[in-house]
Amino acid sequence: MKKVEINNYEELFEVLDRLNESIDWNTFYGERVMKAPFLVNNTLPDKLITEFVAAHSIRDAVEFGCGEGRNAIFLAKRGIDVVAIDSSDVAIRNAKDKAEGLDNVRFICSNFLTVDFEDRKYDLVIDSGMFHHLAPHRRLQYRELLKKILKEDGYFLLLCFSADEEGAEELDDLEFYTKRNTGVSFSEQRLRDFFDSDFEIISIEKRGQEMTEEYIDIPLLYGCVMKLK
Ligand SMILES: C[S@@+](CC[C@H](N)C(=O)[O-])C[C@H]1O[C@@H](n2cnc3c(N)ncnc32)[C@H](O)[C@@H]1O
Repeated sequence: MKKVEINNYEELFEVLDRLNESIDWNTFYGERVMKAPFLVNNTLPDKLITEFVAAHSIRDAVEFGCGEGRNAIFLAKRGIDVVAIDSSDVAIRNAKDKAEGLDNVRFICSNFLTVDFEDRKYDLVIDSGMFHHLAPHRRLQYRELLKKILKEDGYFLLLCFSADEEGAEELDDLEFYTKRNTGVSFSEQRLRDFFDSDFEIISIEKRGQEMTEEYIDIPLLYGCVMKLK
């Protein structure tokens, strides 16, 4: 086995990634034991995204951590060109099956941080449920990537665990490592502190519990609408 050496920042980050290996997403999607709402209702988009698209003119979008593609497919069906990325090949295979016949959504199986966007810029980036699994040392790259691929005035929609819930403990960024958690929740202030440098924060609202034939709304989450400054 290759000896671990840290000669540059990426190698340092990779060591930290290995110390914080999180959920095995292929097992999650393959075995379907955990009945997460986004898995059980894997054809319904998030209400926040449906509302946003109804009110804005969006031509192209990127999704980080698209899972089985419920939001990406919704956007593509609305005529938006979509690049949707997930590191689980099981999820991407299922997403491609569901999207058969749609030619304006491209599913990529990859770590979103290593995708080559070829200097393209997009009207919208969405993330429903990935950011809260990301280790803190990767968040700065996440924010940099958002800035790089969003058009001027581009929008960013984020759904992530809210800390203002009983049982949803907010860990600080040191505890993420020492407690070896796979995910964290965020207070509204923490989200503002992190994104405020580059984004105008239009709204951060607690989501409710709702399911219709068109969408689901998942409680425990904050829905955030931001615009690149
Ligand atoms: C909670 S699931 C949400 C899936 C999907 N957004 C949905 O709501 O149906 C988080 C997803 O992020 C993906 N993921 C986690 N880390 C990733 C990374 N570094 N690059 C790409 N995808 C990642 C996982 O494979 C998983 O599908």
